Amino acid sequence: MADIHPVDPQFAARARYDKARYQQLYQQSLDDPEGFWGQQAQRLDWFVKPTRIKDVSYALEDFRIKWFEDGVLNVSVNCLDRQLAQRGDKTALLFEPDSPDTPARHVTYAQLHEKVCKLANALRALGVAKGDRVTIYLPMIVEAAVAMLACARIGAVHTVVFGGFAPNSIADRVSDSGSKLIITADEGLRGGKKVPLKANVDAALKLPGTNSVETVLVVRHTGGAVAMQAPRDRWYHDVVDSQPAQCEPERMNAEDPLFILYTSGSTGKPKGVLHTTAGYLLYASLTHEAIFDLREDDVYWCTADVGWVTGHSYIVYGPLANGATSLMFEGVPNYPSVSRFWEVIDKHQVTIFYTAPTAIRALMREGDGPVKATSRASLRLLGSVGEPINPEAWRWYYEVVGDARCPIVDTWWQTETGGILISPLPGAVDLKPGAATKPFFGVQPALVDADGQILEGAAEGNLVILDAWPGQMRSVYGDHQRFIDTYFRTYPGTYFTGDGCRRDADGDYWITGRVDDVINVSGHRIGTAEVESALVSHPKVAEAAVVGFPHEIKGQGIYAYVTLIADEPASEELHKELISWVRKEIGPIAAPDHLQWAPGLPKTRSGKIMRRILRKIAENAPEQLGDTSTLADPSVVASLVDQRKVR
Ligand code: PRX
Repeated sequence: MADIHPVDPQFAARARYDKARYQQLYQQSLDDPEGFWGQQAQRLDWFVKPTRIKDVSYALEDFRIKWFEDGVLNVSVNCLDRQLAQRGDKTALLFEPDSPDTPARHVTYAQLHEKVCKLANALRALGVAKGDRVTIYLPMIVEAAVAMLACARIGAVHTVVFGGFAPNSIADRVSDSGSKLIITADEGLRGGKKVPLKANVDAALKLPGTNSVETVLVVRHTGGAVAMQAPRDRWYHDVVDSQPAQCEPERMNAEDPLFILYTSGSTGKPKGVLHTTAGYLLYASLTHEAIFDLREDDVYWCTADVGWVTGHSYIVYGPLANGATSLMFEGVPNYPSVSRFWEVIDKHQVTIFYTAPTAIRALMREGDGPVKATSRASLRLLGSVGEPINPEAWRWYYEVVGDARCPIVDTWWQTETGGILISPLPGAVDLKPGAATKPFFGVQPALVDADGQILEGAAEGNLVILDAWPGQMRSVYGDHQRFIDTYFRTYPGTYFTGDGCRRDADGDYWITGRVDDVINVSGHRIGTAEVESALVSHPKVAEAAVVGFPHEIKGQGIYAYVTLIADEPASEELHKELISWVRKEIGPIAAPDHLQWAPGLPKTRSGKIMRRILRKIAENAPEQLGDTSTLADPSVVASLVDQRKVR
């Protein structure tokens, strides 16, 4: 029997949306998108209100996505200036440092406004103008949010690079975006360990293609020693502190770019997902308010990093546009102990907690004790994001963390979507462990089979979205054709998500995972092609093939098959060396969990690697290999299966 948790009547009584209201508004959003979104546009402050609401065509020959296109506004004004009258003294960002012994900091809306204006003035003084790109490579500190908002204030396009990425990955992103300025820190601090951020930037800027960078602004965070290269490198405080506390915001068109965020696809290098101004902000703020059932006195904590889209939409832009208190946590869940998350919840009386299944599974493994040692009585709502949550982890989250009191919103979305597309509204939708359940306003999911036929009723297939929503990405930076080809050509007339999905008899959606060559490691997207090209760049590697395999904590792990160049002997040292090579080339998140020597790879006669077979070997399910008769040399399979047993 299906495990269903009906909406809690007590929760529903106070919630923003109950069943009837959700259904009525959802229907309206499909019947009359212009009316619905035109009405919603009033939640933003505009210099010039939009009169044209939606202009969208997914047709390949006549492709366009425009929302609110004659509107003029500024994102930082919406996140800061308009909060000042009512919420100037309210905490906007609540900073919890890596170590619990370092005091937390409350930054009010008035203080945040001042910090943002000062940095925005400094950026202008350094020659950054509307449309210029700025790379942000910072730890989870207040300055990360300040930097994003300061770019938004002057119309510069930010591109945040996750602090765990290695110099090569920074250089790729700087070069693709043509950034003029980088904002970084001396060092990051995570779980008591230092991360050499400035040194990584220095190494990145020695790589080809990074000449566009004129200035590196360095936040003094840990106080660790760093090399400063004049005139390129400037201390943040030297440049920013003396700036005026007011800054005239740039007037931005609704469709002007707001940010670029790089994400992995099934082919090639990570692509620059481009989001624009009004549609993105409106969608981030509305989903944040509705799905987290936001109230004025909430203390809201999303544990993501600002280096990922979740940090953009649900730590910075959505919450601040809603005047919420958003907690920023510098550290990790298991430092100094595995109770840290729950202790922070008690310390700051967190009411809404949003995290990833991988963290839940890792903490679940530590037993109930570290959770039960804390109160968590302040919590009223829990959220999950990044990958499918297995029902066992869902139940533990619900029963142990939430004391069977707090609804869980399992939110499905992507870097490309800008905000949540499928999730329960907690006062309106019954919960099922493992199901993302129902679409948000304006979102029309559909399932298609391999031929693109739309499947009706209870079914399983590829997940597509039939019409646009305002938060949708607008382009791949510098390659608009790649945008159209990647997302709109597979199943013409629809946006293809790259995910597989099941819809049950109640119309609830269950995401089953990626159907392309993207691996979801701890909720982070890694392209198999990226790891393969890192491996092949090692002088001793002739060929590599990478697949995902089920991993108890990470959801999926990375499994690499490596063919060495002729006469190069396989050794334990080389095995280690190749794993740390990938770590250094891309970053620790891309390091293979398993690396298997492969004298040959299973290929079709036309030379295409058959990953389906490699996946089954990695899963240790050789009995499910299926038909191998189309291979150029079927004997390589047997040898790989034998080797797998040895490991
Ligand atoms: O496969 C889906 C999975 O994460 C992918 C998007 O990754 P990214 O762009 O890095 O964004 C992550 C944060 C939004 C999706 O294609 N995914 C994300 N959330 C869920 C999920 N899979 C199942 N359930 C979710 N709630």
